[in-house]
Amino acid sequence: MVLTQNAAYPVLPSLVTSLPGPKAKEIIERDNAVLSPSYTRCYPFVMKRGRGAVVEDVDGNYFLDFAAGIAVVASGHSHPAVVAAIQNQAAEFLHMSGTDFYYESMVRLAEKLAALTPGDVPRRVYFGNSGAEAVEAAIKMARYNTGRDKFIAFLGGFHGRTMGALSLTGSKITQRRGFHPPLPVHHIPYAYCYRCPYGKQPETCSVECVKVLEEQLFKTILPAEEVAAIVVEPVQGEGGYLVPPKKFHEELRRIADKYGILLVHDEVQSGMGRTGRMFASEHFEVSPDIVTLAKGIASGMPLSATVARAEVMQWPPGAHASTFGGNPVSVAAALTTIELLEQTLVEHAAAIGRYMLERMKSWPARFRFVGDVRGLGLMIGVEIVRDQETKERAPDLRDRLESMAFERGLLILGAGQNSVRLCPPLVISRDQADFAMDTLEQCLQSLEQ
Ligand SMILES: Cc1ncc(COP(=O)(O)O)c(C=O)c1O
Repeated sequence: MVLTQNAAYPVLPSLVTSLPGPKAKEIIERDNAVLSPSYTRCYPFVMKRGRGAVVEDVDGNYFLDFAAGIAVVASGHSHPAVVAAIQNQAAEFLHMSGTDFYYESMVRLAEKLAALTPGDVPRRVYFGNSGAEAVEAAIKMARYNTGRDKFIAFLGGFHGRTMGALSLTGSKITQRRGFHPPLPVHHIPYAYCYRCPYGKQPETCSVECVKVLEEQLFKTILPAEEVAAIVVEPVQGEGGYLVPPKKFHEELRRIADKYGILLVHDEVQSGMGRTGRMFASEHFEVSPDIVTLAKGIASGMPLSATVARAEVMQWPPGAHASTFGGNPVSVAAALTTIELLEQTLVEHAAAIGRYMLERMKSWPARFRFVGDVRGLGLMIGVEIVRDQETKERAPDLRDRLESMAFERGLLILGAGQNSVRLCPPLVISRDQADFAMDTLEQCLQSLEQ
């Protein structure tokens, strides 16, 4: 059984100091003086250690972690099998640079990812260290392969903060302000069905948000033959955990095929079992030309992968590489993570996610500040509004909800302008899921008072 938890380690929160405690306060003060002010901390949690889905802070408080280091620690904090794989590899060698030399584990991981990626076609794999790097590789590969320079991406999408990835990102204005000029990217609305930009209901929807490409963009400002790739998150992450209808992705695939455009699925957040399938695109039965992966891939070790159709990943030696990409310690963590995912965790994420969504679906009827609950597997979003009728966004209430949850021992993160996301490690138990939902229900009730 992989849902391990050290017997001596608590499985539910317990708080022994006011928050932040004295040691946390001291570290935060030092942090404020020396770290980049561009980081976005929403409450004062200072990590000491973690096991499974429970993390301890420096003052001895235990929290239930429904943030997972921003949807990263797929197999939980310091899963013993992952730790053992890391230790074993560290004792052999820490680095050799897979761009200039060979090692078997990197080949094995590439073979595994190529085989797992949806679509029955030969694939090749490029390794980097972060989500943004995986996206940069996809951008460069798309340009190289097509000889075209432009991209299509989505409002609300997040693809990273390096210059190419940032050009695709359409999430928050602070991420882009002051960093122009970007690459030529045209952003169109995502299938944000709760706030359909075309005023449609699911029954009347004909994915106008995709049709705008052929019916308007390609006829007015953007020649289709200049577009290298459409870059889309199968489930939009930072934008608020938005689950589009299947036909959204089918239509994007159709348009990409028709105009010789590459379809890139950014699965940095939605991949590696998070949605209850290894890849979120499996829910939509659409196979992309290029997939980007990071976050959950190595349970917390820095690693990313850009997996492409073999005929798309055709570029000469030196065209793209990275000293650290495919670090052997990260690769060892990834191989073990994937084993755990395949053994039980993907299925577990699907089952426990269904269980949670079933209960949470009643929240809009029970709590007046909840506008929408949506998700797949353990990628669940709750949209907080001031008024269910007008759907007025309530970012202040969302922020309060995050802080109230923290004060009760539950770590959650915001997403989009006014949603919270639940993205726990995929190992959470039913009791932990119940604790999180009980806590959020208490917080929502208090918000109403
Ligand atoms: C879908 C998606 N793509 C890319 C990124 C960028 O990843 P990183 O922060 O590792 O560069 C993120 C990060 O949140 C993401 O959610």
